[in-house]
Amino acid sequence: MSNLTNTLFVGKVLLRFEALESTNEYAVNLVSKNKPSEGTVITAFDQTKGRGQIGRSWSSEPGKNLTFSLILYPKMLPVRHQFLLNQAIALGLSDYLRQYFKDVRIKWPNDIYIGDRKICGILIQNLLSGSNIQASIIGIGLNVNQCEFDPSLPNPTSLAKEMGKTLDLDEVLAKLCESLELRYLQLRADKPSILKKDYLEQLYRFQESALFQYPDGKLFSGQIVGVTEAGKLRIHHQNGEEHFDVREVSFVI
Ligand code: BTN
Repeated sequence: MSNLTNTLFVGKVLLRFEALESTNEYAVNLVSKNKPSEGTVITAFDQTKGRGQIGRSWSSEPGKNLTFSLILYPKMLPVRHQFLLNQAIALGLSDYLRQYFKDVRIKWPNDIYIGDRKICGILIQNLLSGSNIQASIIGIGLNVNQCEFDPSLPNPTSLAKEMGKTLDLDEVLAKLCESLELRYLQLRADKPSILKKDYLEQLYRFQESALFQYPDGKLFSGQIVGVTEAGKLRIHHQNGEEHFDVREVSFVI
């Protein structure tokens, strides 16, 4: 795949594994032992203990999907601005998908949806050093050719389900590396206003009336009006504006 990537550094080093428990876990260990070059990608044909957000797991049928981690060193990014990296990565993925589908949305904080169906999950693990980010492990699970999913998953989809054809995983990975790099370069070039504007433009349910749920199950209706610098979701409801982190609110689809 490396020779096919039309990138400066993302995906130029590609470490492929037949099976790994978690590509993120492997990448975190690698970064703590060596200093792999920026843009190194670790991919597993079969990821056996994939990790998801907020302690969830991520399951993927062996050989059907992309499960990979990208190593970046966004040293220019102060920790308090780390959500900009989430925004850049989510945009890189949605830019790629937008070539094929018009209703691609970023569901806060960084799930990628087609319509009301989840096609991709992102798990970013930042290794901090003082007030800066020393290294960032970007874990991406993109459903590509899997068409049957665990019925307990709320609304999964895949490229193959949406397009009605099977795709070549290496080609998808090569193109994704390009889109991810373009957005990461915008971040490096200190273009936060572009990233923030594009993120809001693509945000699922932005400025629409929608139903949400507190962790105790209580429902409320409101409108997403933005995200804070720290990445909290800003929802306007009948009592004013409230800011939520990912454990404090969920969408009722
Ligand atoms: C989520 O939506 O909860 C995030 C899922 C992230 C899954 C990817 S698959 C590759 C990488 N390795 C992991 O263990 N998790 C991420």
